[in-house]
Amino acid sequence: MSPSTFARRLASRRRQLASAAIVAVALGLLGMLYAAIAPRGSAATSADPAVDEGRSLFQSLSCASCHGLNGEGGKRAPSLIGVGAAAVDFQMGTGRMPLQQHGAEAPRKRPVASEGDILKVAAYVASLGPGPAIPQFDAADWQKADTAYGGALFRTNCAQCHNFAGSGGALTYGKYAPSLSDATPTQIYEAMITGPENMPVFGDKQITPDQKLAIINYVRTIKTQADPGGVGLGRVGPVTETVVGWLVGIGVLVIVTIWIGARA
Ligand code: HEC
Ligand code: HEC
Repeated sequence: MSPSTFARRLASRRRQLASAAIVAVALGLLGMLYAAIAPRGSAATSADPAVDEGRSLFQSLSCASCHGLNGEGGKRAPSLIGVGAAAVDFQMGTGRMPLQQHGAEAPRKRPVASEGDILKVAAYVASLGPGPAIPQFDAADWQKADTAYGGALFRTNCAQCHNFAGSGGALTYGKYAPSLSDATPTQIYEAMITGPENMPVFGDKQITPDQKLAIINYVRTIKTQADPGGVGLGRVGPVTETVVGWLVGIGVLVIVTIWIGARA
C-alpha cells in the first residue's frame, strides 16, 4: 500500500465516522424534542383523573350497555353528548339510572353509586360535550327566597303536572309526574334545568335562578307543613272541603229523612 492510498483511506474513514456521529447526535436531539412535546400518557386518557375514572365507571355500572361505549346513544337509550353533569347527577342521584327495566316511567330508587362516583361519571359525561353543570348554592340561598312568590311560580309552571301540593299526578300513556316530597333542593334545581322525560326544560330566561330558588323554597315548605284540621284532601283548597261537607251532610240528612218517613 502506497503512503498516498493510505492517507486517502484514512480521510474517508474519518468522514464516515464524522457523518455517523452527526446522525447519532441528530437522533438524540430528535428523541429529546419528542419527549418534550409529546402528550403525556396514551391518547385515550385525559388530563382530568376524575374523567378517566368516570369513563371506567360508565362501563362497569352498565351505562355503556344502553347509552353506547362513548355515550353516543343507541336503540335502547338516548345520546348523552351535551346533557351535562346536571342530568347525570339528577338521574343517578334519584336512582333512576342505571335503568333496570324499560317502562313508561323511570321510577325514583335508592342510588346504586356513591356520591363521589356519581360526580366522576358526571365529569366524564360533561367532557363529551357542553351541557348544564351541577348547580351550586347553599341552603341559605333558597331559604331567604320568597315562599309566596315561589308558590305563584309553582302554580303557573309546575302544578299542572305535579299538583298544587307537589304530590304528583297522572300523565298520558301510563306516565306520571312524581311527588316532589323526596327531592333535595339540588335535585329540584337540576330537574328544572335538564327536563327529565316528559318534563320541559325551564331555562334561565324562562325562570331566572332567583325564581328557581323561590320555587325550591315553596316545594320544601309544603313538604314540611302539617295539615291543620285533619285529612289533607290533596290540598286543593276550600272547594274540596265544601264538597266533602256537602255530600256527607246531605247524605246524612237523606238517610234521616228516609228513616223518619219509614217510621211514620
Ligand atoms: C337499561 C338501559 C339503561 C341503562 C343501563 C342506563 N340508562 Fe340512562 N337512560 C335510558 C333511557 C331509556 C333513558 C331515557 C328515558 C328516561 O329519561 O327515563 C335514559 C336517560 C338518561 C339520562 C337523561 C338524558 C337526558 O336527556 O336528560 C341520563 C343523564 C342517563 N340516562 C345516564 C345514565 C347513566 C350515567 C347510566 C349508568 C349509571 C345509565 N344512564 C344507565 C336507559 C338506560
Ligand atoms: C309536563 C309535565 C311537567 C311539568 C310542567 C313539570 N314537571 Fe317535573 N316532572 C315531570 C315528570 C314526568 C317527571 C319524572 C321524570 C322521570 O321520571 O324521569 C318529573 C320530575 C320532577 C322532579 C324529580 C322528582 C323526584 O323525586 O325524583 C322534580 C324535582 C320536578 N319534576 C320538579 C318540577 C318543577 C319545580 C316544575 C316547575 C318549574 C316541574 N317539575 C314541571 C313532569 C313535569
